[in-house]
Amino acid sequence: MFQKGLKDVVAVHTKIASVDGDKGELRYRGVLVGDLIPSHSFEEVAYFIWQGELPGENELRNLQGKMIEGRELPDHIGAIIDALPADMSLMDAMRTVISAYAHVDFKDRTIEEQAIILTAALPVVISRHYRNMKGLSIVKANPNLSHTANFLWMLTGVLANEVHVEALETYLKLTMEHGLNASTFAARVTISTESDLTAAITSALGTMKGPLHGGAPSGVIDLLEAIGLTENIRPVVEEKVKSGERIMGFGHRIYKTEDPRSILLRDKCVSMSGKDSWLDLATEAEKEIIALLETYKPGRKLYTNVEYYAAAIMRSIEMPPELFTPTFSAARIVGWTAHAMEQLNDNTIFRPQSVYVGELVE
Ligand code: ACO
Repeated sequence: MFQKGLKDVVAVHTKIASVDGDKGELRYRGVLVGDLIPSHSFEEVAYFIWQGELPGENELRNLQGKMIEGRELPDHIGAIIDALPADMSLMDAMRTVISAYAHVDFKDRTIEEQAIILTAALPVVISRHYRNMKGLSIVKANPNLSHTANFLWMLTGVLANEVHVEALETYLKLTMEHGLNASTFAARVTISTESDLTAAITSALGTMKGPLHGGAPSGVIDLLEAIGLTENIRPVVEEKVKSGERIMGFGHRIYKTEDPRSILLRDKCVSMSGKDSWLDLATEAEKEIIALLETYKPGRKLYTNVEYYAAAIMRSIEMPPELFTPTFSAARIVGWTAHAMEQLNDNTIFRPQSVYVGELVE
């Protein structure tokens, strides 16, 4: 059997997450994200994805302690970041730096500890290279802040307000895990050779970089920027659809009803409404764009995907577009590491077949 791109091929049995595109359901460890995300922090949801249960008080304190420890980069990691050319893209820098974690001390730790440290370190790596790119001085990690608040602190050097922290955290929690997407598959393939976790995450980062996977939200910013004012929604969208252009942030390969992540992010936008004209424009534009798409593309079931409100939220918290895919990666590393551990628990090396279709030379 040959399926280009392994489309519809089941390659893994997993207990980490399920995605039901017809019902519009995403579950982490069997629980609907809508029931889990609002009442639990990044750290708690990450623990839940890794361990399959919520942390008790002690476990949470222990995890928070390890994550704070993970924010302190080993000397050689800091030196590597500072030696990178300032014009190296963030995704390239992240991939290079994470691979350098593969040293003896790190490998002596359990894979669970390695997962925690890499998850804690990734936003620090992003912030440090980002500030180097901009010629800004490095901001030290603040052990009194949560994972998300510390990320914004290290990026900007300013304590973010609670609304911004909560908005970013909602996005991070909703994008931690999404089944066997390309980068997660890459992580599982790499670890299936009994390679190590840093190699698996390096593969995942290299895969996430591609525009077909991690690179979509900045297109939504361009769309909302082109619209600008509510009265422009119809003419801008009509012109794009008529010329055959895709409306970024709409449609999904799996979800043929509303993307559940989009619903939760929209709720967050609505709760922030009135505080930011971008969020107001995004919520108003959604209804009109869906109606226009139904007119011009009837029956295609085109709703907003996670990128639409993610972009609106990122824009409203003043996260520059070049940080979108790195930030997505800082969330998805939880899923990558969980899948790597699951793969090792019952491992068979991935080795599909290929069929030679070239000429035979006699
Ligand atoms: N705008 C306009 N028309 C669209 C859109 C869109 N965003 N999405 C699909 N369509 C139309 C297509 O033109 C096609 O029309 P046709 O039947 O007249 O040829 C029909 O709907 C089906 O399109 P497909 O590409 O076959 O649908 P598929 O489910 O494979 O595509 C995809 C999913 C790639 C996400 C698509 O909807 C798209 O390009 N969206 C815009 C880009 C985007 O937002 N990407 C982020 C996805 S979320 C993520 O990656 C985390």
